[in-house]
Amino acid sequence: MTRIFSGVKPTGHLTLGNYLGAVRRWVEVDQYRADALFSVVDLHALTVEHDPGRVRRLSRQAASLLLAAGLDPERCTLFVQSHVDEHARLSYLLECTATDGEMRRMIQYKEKAAQERARGGSVRLSLLTYPVLMAADILAYDTDEVPVGDDQAQHVELTRDLAVRFNQRYGHTFTVPKATHPGVAARVMDLQDPASKMGKSGDGGAGVVFLLDEPDVVRRKVMRAVTDSGVDVVYDREERPGLANLLEVLAACRGDGCDPAELAGGYSSYGDLKRDVVDGVVELLRPLRKRHAELVADPAFVDGVLRDGAARARAVARPVVDRAYQAVGLLPAG
Ligand code: TRP
Repeated sequence: MTRIFSGVKPTGHLTLGNYLGAVRRWVEVDQYRADALFSVVDLHALTVEHDPGRVRRLSRQAASLLLAAGLDPERCTLFVQSHVDEHARLSYLLECTATDGEMRRMIQYKEKAAQERARGGSVRLSLLTYPVLMAADILAYDTDEVPVGDDQAQHVELTRDLAVRFNQRYGHTFTVPKATHPGVAARVMDLQDPASKMGKSGDGGAGVVFLLDEPDVVRRKVMRAVTDSGVDVVYDREERPGLANLLEVLAACRGDGCDPAELAGGYSSYGDLKRDVVDGVVELLRPLRKRHAELVADPAFVDGVLRDGAARARAVARPVVDRAYQAVGLLPAG
């Protein structure tokens, strides 16, 4: 059976972009068709300045939200990365496989390091080695497919290169994974800046709808979304990106087969469209928020899911990582 691995970084509250762009597909498709592992990748949240209490809270919240969104612990494995030592163990071997030049060429590293320096901060070494840890996340599970947004394509490409190189040097050890990207309509953009992705680490959040936003907050954010200077409602990603984003969000809320260009034809004003987007998003999130509240009231359940998930994950990763340790020439512990 196909093995799938993907991760969510607990650096901010999960957004509508995370849900429509990735999580919904994990819930509706991936957990049924594959042996799927989903991880709250908390070690990755430590690569930039962080607040320990916040990382802890966000990790728990991310796990609860993934469950609330419909990941079923009977069908997939949900766990916290730091609960499984194999990630860090394998990461070191991959640091011995990757090169310094390769790491410095990563787009995300260049961008984030520049941001950090512009703020007068220092760049943690782990920001540079982050893609190696991500490769370890993936390779430790003999993963076939990695469903991620296209901003992660370069990291998955690196993962493939490292797997191939390791296999060539030390004999076949790793499955070489491939990235899979969800359909186009799922790329949700920031409501205030339709040129950039709706990201959880973005500023203040005026253009970002969080999964736990109250309905009136959703309303305010959507009603204030930047549209474009035209007056008619047409679907044109290039010329009218703000409007296109709203149409895509509405289409995604309505479900499979709903086409943003067709939706556009039914509207003669931005206001009507925005009101429908508000309703669509609020209804989409309602059951999720309700289920999340129930899970918050039952922390023992969430802990149990994560404990079982970590045990299952360990059982898969341990032999893979042991195999890699032996392949590179480390003496078995006996
Ligand atoms: N780097 C990913 C992101 O920023 C998160 C991530 C970490 C991940 N490890 C992973 C995604 C492994 C897929 C597979 O979104």
